[in-house]
Amino acid sequence: MTHQEWIPRPTPRRNGATGLLATDSHVDDPPEGERWSTWDGSTHGPVPRPDWVITDLGAVDQDLGILKTGKEADVHVVRRWVPDGTTLPSRSAVMAAKRFRPGDRRLFHRDAGYLEGRRVRRSRETRAMARRTDFGREVIAGQWAGAEFGALGMLWELGLPVPYPVQLSQTEMLMEFVGDRQLCVGAPRLAQARPGRDLLPDLWEQLLEALQTLAEHGWAHGDLSAFNLLLDGDRLVLIDWPQIVDVIGNPRGFEYLQRDVHNVATWFTAHGLAVDEAEVFGDLAALAAGSGWPGS
Ligand SMILES: Nc1ncnc2c1ncn2[C@@H]1O[C@H](COP(=O)(O)OP(=O)(O)OP(=O)(O)O)[C@@H](O)[C@H]1O
Ligand SMILES: [Mg+2]
Repeated sequence: MTHQEWIPRPTPRRNGATGLLATDSHVDDPPEGERWSTWDGSTHGPVPRPDWVITDLGAVDQDLGILKTGKEADVHVVRRWVPDGTTLPSRSAVMAAKRFRPGDRRLFHRDAGYLEGRRVRRSRETRAMARRTDFGREVIAGQWAGAEFGALGMLWELGLPVPYPVQLSQTEMLMEFVGDRQLCVGAPRLAQARPGRDLLPDLWEQLLEALQTLAEHGWAHGDLSAFNLLLDGDRLVLIDWPQIVDVIGNPRGFEYLQRDVHNVATWFTAHGLAVDEAEVFGDLAALAAGSGWPGS
């Protein structure tokens, strides 16, 4: 895809002395509503990187607004572009920025279930989390951002259909934007997409293949449903991974796997493609159970 798309905005200039972008009023500040690229100083996604990822330190991030507010996070559309002194930027890339909100009570309960067995290194943080201070809530949000970023990187490397994770800084994760990057319109969630019946067998195959690869490596999504599947043209993309479940290591791992299968099997069956939930779960559970064996 091309990244030459453009939305009108004031043209920044470089300050001759500092090399930084200049506006009339604040020499070293990027134009209003924009920030310097946060690439430097953030954790980066796996290499080799897709060629659309912009790593230039002089790039600018422009927030184009909220795509979706969720229970735990807001997803914004961010355009990163490289000013080159001309009217149009030489390169730009549209990304989805998922910003995790400091956890509320509900999130905290959910943490307790999912983070069972995971250790938090610093006890100051553990105490702050337990007391749910502002700092503790921020730590929790950062953990969830880190968990999703780590999961996406690992899944991307396995070749799964997930957004490429570009970078992580504190509670914000930037990732590949799934949808129409020219118009900045996100791909619909499968739950709202109304795909034609003739497309369902292929979509189910895509999903099954992804779930099999996951299970072979001992993982389940943990919150899978038609709301966390984006339909990008005729391709399914699996999103929303902070709670990824280690099927063997998590005491409730098989329960989560079963619920995942139930949610998607129910959706496909209700929309006209009868699928055998029990058989699918059995196959995936067997794959996951075998995932710890040497040579698997
Ligand atoms: N990479 C992406 N590209 C395009 N749209 C995205 C992307 N990631 C998320 N979205 C949009 O943002 C929504 C929320 O994202 P996500 O499911 O990861 O967060 P959430 O906090 O779990 O939200 P919810 O509470 O709605 O499940 C998605 O349903 C989708 O519409
Ligand atoms: Mg979601």
